[in-house]
Amino acid sequence: MAMQSDQSATQAMPGNTTTFEDAVRIRRSIRGFLDKPAAENVIREVLEDAQHAPSNCNTQPWNVHIVRGERLKQLSQLLHAKNDAGEFTPDYSFDVNDFYGEYRERNNALGKAYYEAMNVMREDKEARHRAGAMNYSFFNAPHAAFLFMPSFGDDVRVAGDMGMYGQTFLLSLAARNLGGIPQTALGFFAGTIREFLGIPDELKLLFGISFGYPDENAPGNRVRMDRVPLETSVTFHS
Ligand SMILES: Cc1cc2nc3c(=O)[nH]c(=O)nc-3n(C[C@H](O)[C@H](O)[C@H](O)COP(=O)(O)O)c2cc1C
Repeated sequence: MAMQSDQSATQAMPGNTTTFEDAVRIRRSIRGFLDKPAAENVIREVLEDAQHAPSNCNTQPWNVHIVRGERLKQLSQLLHAKNDAGEFTPDYSFDVNDFYGEYRERNNALGKAYYEAMNVMREDKEARHRAGAMNYSFFNAPHAAFLFMPSFGDDVRVAGDMGMYGQTFLLSLAARNLGGIPQTALGFFAGTIREFLGIPDELKLLFGISFGYPDENAPGNRVRMDRVPLETSVTFHS
């Protein structure tokens, strides 16, 4: 995937919200954060924005847990240990081998861009493991949001609702000069995270979002994924 310029990123001023168009284009997945927590009132504003996400039949199914400080450090250590031991406790299955054709190609492009950014050689398994494990350091973010959800039927619709919530959350961060990254990798340890946070078994975890102020110099933030042309994704009928 090609690199693209990011001129709009400089337009967002701290404390101000940007236009919708800017926020959508400024947002990208952040894989490196400054050691600078966001103010609690700003986090509350982001959560208030996300609360406006639409949901199937108005169920508003999101049960969100925000973790920071010592608790986040403890959870990071626990997740690294579980990841190294291969003790996965996901609520939902996930296999990249399910991707085919163009979808597989796009996933491969992401892997290539990330490992290049991290200066990891393809055949260096140990270095790849370490780069992947950055997910469990929350990419050094000072905050993480865990988006738990109740289970209804096959969970497809509630998962869609969680996606809507997640994107509203991410756009609100972008509009405030903050950044975040949704992480399926956190969902691989749903059981561990649920137990650590004391969350009832009936709530499931699809993904979490690490967030904070982007560290523009972090290697992980060299990744820029472009998009296929509109005509590839959209068909007009009349
Ligand atoms: C639901 C969801 C889960 C994701 N999980 C991860 C993850 O576990 N680790 C990661 O590095 N990126 C993860 N991503 C980020 C994607 O790789 C990213 O959105 C995609 O490559 C497009 O790049 P952009 O977000 O910078 O536009 C996830 C994105 C979504 C929407």
